[in-house]
Amino acid sequence: MAKVYSVCNQKGGVGKTTTAVNIAAFLATFAGKTLLVDLDPQGNATSASGVSKDQVDSSVYEVLTDNVPAVSIVKETRIKGLHVLPSNTSLAGAEVELVSEIAREYKLREALREAREVYDYIIIDTPPSLSLLTINALAATDEVLIPIQCEYFALEGLSQLLKTIDLVRVNLHPELKIGGIIFTMYDSRLILNNEVLEEVKEHFPNLVFENTIPRNVRLSEAPSHGMPILFYDPTSTGSLSYEKLTRELIERNKGEEKTDQGPVQEFKEEIQCQPQTQNVGLAEALEL
Ligand SMILES: Nc1ncnc2c1ncn2[C@@H]1O[C@H](COP(=O)(O)OP(=O)(O)OP(=O)(O)O)[C@@H](O)[C@H]1O
Ligand SMILES: [Mg+2]
Repeated sequence: MAKVYSVCNQKGGVGKTTTAVNIAAFLATFAGKTLLVDLDPQGNATSASGVSKDQVDSSVYEVLTDNVPAVSIVKETRIKGLHVLPSNTSLAGAEVELVSEIAREYKLREALREAREVYDYIIIDTPPSLSLLTINALAATDEVLIPIQCEYFALEGLSQLLKTIDLVRVNLHPELKIGGIIFTMYDSRLILNNEVLEEVKEHFPNLVFENTIPRNVRLSEAPSHGMPILFYDPTSTGSLSYEKLTRELIERNKGEEKTDQGPVQEFKEEIQCQPQTQNVGLAEALEL
């Protein structure tokens, strides 16, 4: 049975797609057969993995609205063992069409049932919103991966996302876990970056991945060539950091106890008990 991860953060441009594409590519390379599901109408994960959106006849849209099985329309990529369930702008319409459907939150979960038997890993890239598409991703997920940028406003977004994950647990999917928080575009020379990282580590000691992703120009170039970083520039710092992160993810997977944190609510209570007086009011930003 595949392990299903969603890469989620309703904040735009924090590195969700970059993280989803590159973790998926490394998993396919050294861990097992991997399906990258592009659940964003922008289709960035589709093109970043080398699948042209123009050539996509059937997409995740048909999977969600016409009950087309996901396994029947996946596309191969130039990375062995990495397949993509593509997306294009038609997916934007799914949001509206699904509203009147029965069990609309479980459409993706149902559609991936067969794929779970075929793949070792399924990675879902989500849109920058807490929409029905993102709820579908969470309902289909074993563990959520949360990329965040080390900025003040990142913490406000994190708080909102954790509340949504709680709601999904209570109403749709009690086994949903948080796989971890990933710091993206991290620059150790910036004081604010370090402050935010330390603050989040203090509140979520077992959730933050040890390996951070630095800002690296090769990572931002790779999508325009339709290549994951391990194909575009395997010796770049961006590639090495995503490789290390993926290995850490696999290790966590083996030693499940590190990621099994119980209800998110417990963390919120813990934060309330430990108000941060110094720093730049980051605890307030968490609104917890
Ligand atoms: N570590 C990095 N170093 C440099 N550039 C990066 C890095 N990670 C992502 N980028 C660039 O930042 C931009 C946003 O990244 P990405 O598309 O992965 O974010 P996203 O969260 O998926 O965005 P959206 O919310 O629009 O889906 C892209 O241009 C990407 O190439
Ligand atoms: Mg994206």
